[in-house]
Amino acid sequence: MLIATLSAAQKAGIAGMGAAFIIFALVSSFVIPRYRPNFPDRRVWPYVGLVVCFFVAMMVVVVFVGREKSEAKAGGTSTPSTSPAAPPGPPPPVTGNAAAGKAVFAANGCAACHTFKPAAASGKVGPDLDHLAVDAKKANRGSLAQYTTESIVNPSAYVVPGFLSGTMPQDFGTKLSTKQIDDLVAFLLKPA
Ligand code: HEC
Repeated sequence: MLIATLSAAQKAGIAGMGAAFIIFALVSSFVIPRYRPNFPDRRVWPYVGLVVCFFVAMMVVVVFVGREKSEAKAGGTSTPSTSPAAPPGPPPPVTGNAAAGKAVFAANGCAACHTFKPAAASGKVGPDLDHLAVDAKKANRGSLAQYTTESIVNPSAYVVPGFLSGTMPQDFGTKLSTKQIDDLVAFLLKPA
């Protein structure tokens, strides 16, 4: 509703300014010369100054209103703004399917290296994934889902203290589909 009031005010602003401009033009070209045929005569420069002021005011209104309109548009759509200056929004919701993720976990040998109770896994090469949330907090690399996704597709971006970089396979990001990774993340965050 803020947008509605804004655009109504904007229209009024443009219309008012435009009307003033037109009336000014008509008066100075038809009405004044009728009484003062030499108009603007020696006052041509003040008159030109006035015209320039009108022009600038009109342009300011158009530019200002145009910008407000596009801002209102950006705020009105449901898709978040992609402008780099935009403040980070809430982290994307976990969209994967945890049950499908459990199968992906089993099929890709994660259990050989990781302990994770929901998968009945007891590997000791990598970190215990039951403590994933604690590690994610320490790592401080975005939301838990963002950290988990990064840990799978790009394990060397952050190496959990006490573990060796390069031990975790580096190619899950290319071997697994985006959906499989989303499912894995869902399983690790909220086991089915
Ligand atoms: C060959 C052993 C190995 C396999 C197989 C493996 N990982 Fe890892 N993983 C590791 C190691 C070692 C680390 C810690 C070093 C690092 O962060 O790169 C790790 C780290 C992680 C982390 C971050 C853990 C934390 O506590 O911060 C996640 C999440 C993870 N792995 C998930 C997986 C998933 C899912 C799979 C199967 C698709 C998998 N890993 C397969 C060895 C492995």
